[in-house]
Amino acid sequence: MTSTPGTSASLPQAHAGDDPDTLRETIAGSLLAARERTRLLTDCLDDDDLVRQHSPLMSPLVWDLAHIANQEELWLLRAVGGREPMRPDIDPLYDAFEHPRAERPTLPLLTPAEARAYVGEVRGRVLDLLHNAKFAGTPLVADGFAFGMVAQHEQQHGETMLATHQLRKGAPALSAPPPGLSPDAVSLPAEVLVPGGPFTMGTSAEPWALDNERPAHTAVVPSFYLDTTPVSNAAYQAFIAASGYDDQRWWSPAGWAHRQRAGLRAPLFWRREGNGWLRTRFGVTEPVPPAEPVLHVCFYEAEAYARWAGRRLPTEAEWEKAARFDPATGRSRRFPWGDADPSPQLANLGQRHLQPAPVGSYPDGAAPCGARQLVGDVWEWTSSDFLPYPGFRAWPYREYSEVFFGSEYKMLRGGSFAVGPVACRGTFRNWDYPVRRQIFAGFRTARDAAPVVADGGA
Ligand SMILES: [Fe+2]
Repeated sequence: MTSTPGTSASLPQAHAGDDPDTLRETIAGSLLAARERTRLLTDCLDDDDLVRQHSPLMSPLVWDLAHIANQEELWLLRAVGGREPMRPDIDPLYDAFEHPRAERPTLPLLTPAEARAYVGEVRGRVLDLLHNAKFAGTPLVADGFAFGMVAQHEQQHGETMLATHQLRKGAPALSAPPPGLSPDAVSLPAEVLVPGGPFTMGTSAEPWALDNERPAHTAVVPSFYLDTTPVSNAAYQAFIAASGYDDQRWWSPAGWAHRQRAGLRAPLFWRREGNGWLRTRFGVTEPVPPAEPVLHVCFYEAEAYARWAGRRLPTEAEWEKAARFDPATGRSRRFPWGDADPSPQLANLGQRHLQPAPVGSYPDGAAPCGARQLVGDVWEWTSSDFLPYPGFRAWPYREYSEVFFGSEYKMLRGGSFAVGPVACRGTFRNWDYPVRRQIFAGFRTARDAAPVVADGGA
């Protein structure tokens, strides 16, 4: 079994105005952290496990491995460095748009040994390029954007590969220490008030923000209440015990149709045992821990739970206001806790722990409104579709975000324990199909604040 090193969560991030040497150091650290994670997730399995497709929802891990290097070659060696393709013959194999995941095991992919050699060769050349990089001249290199994008891409695949590990059958291959518990977690209020009014949503200043997070703009949300913490397994079990899965009243028409078709009865990876529930995670089966945030529920389950609880999911704008707005200064922070880079003290990120922390953890990472764990632990479903912000401009390619805009996808915010800190910000936007359950997603609920009714004496 491989133990996670737990170093990546403390890495500094890029900041507007960083000098070239600082930026070079940040980039090198981010690329290295991503690579440590990739190695850890692939070196712990034998070749059979790397080439096997563990679920039709996922690629074989050996595909992720070579795809990471192929994207790094495309964006850094070719687009930034102007080099000739190293292996033009393999480009189509690793183009995510050309081959859906289910089809990838049938392709003539590089073997694990060939993939590792390619990955190492590309990285060696990238580090040479980085050594002399000027970070000026074109928008792609300004503030080291292309390097940051590539580091984020590898960390995002680190999360995808961890989801593949979760779907894999067989003996456990990974282990990590559990996160700590905050002593005041049990005495927290159930919900916090987020004041209504305008706030700045999105960013124009974060150097490595992706196109869909841009530009900064004013959004207005009325006052609302938000759960202080993500919904726990214990709370979710109450929904199951109250026959929530069998009561159509709590489900949207699309949600109910999916619940029927897919036979949903409980979160993915849960199994009924006597009067209780067991849960399997990374090959280990144990009783469902009541204090952990619920995980591996789809958007429709989150929506049904919220309705059963007399509440609703927050909109994406509400989520971001709760996470970033500081009423004391009127400005939006980079993270719930302020502008400081993430650290192990502030949030559960970077696969340091292979599980979310109990609800109410990370008091130092709380937002000004008092909500905890908005960043880290579990992705949180919101009620919003994936739409562009006013003034959106596709960059550096349409396929990053623009082709996904519409009502087919629901927004997830906040980042999970599986996300590298380089790919996590208060403005970061994630999206997925409302039926998805293998991702590391949970949710929290909201409700409108009661409107102030003027007493007209009528
Ligand atoms: Fe990718």
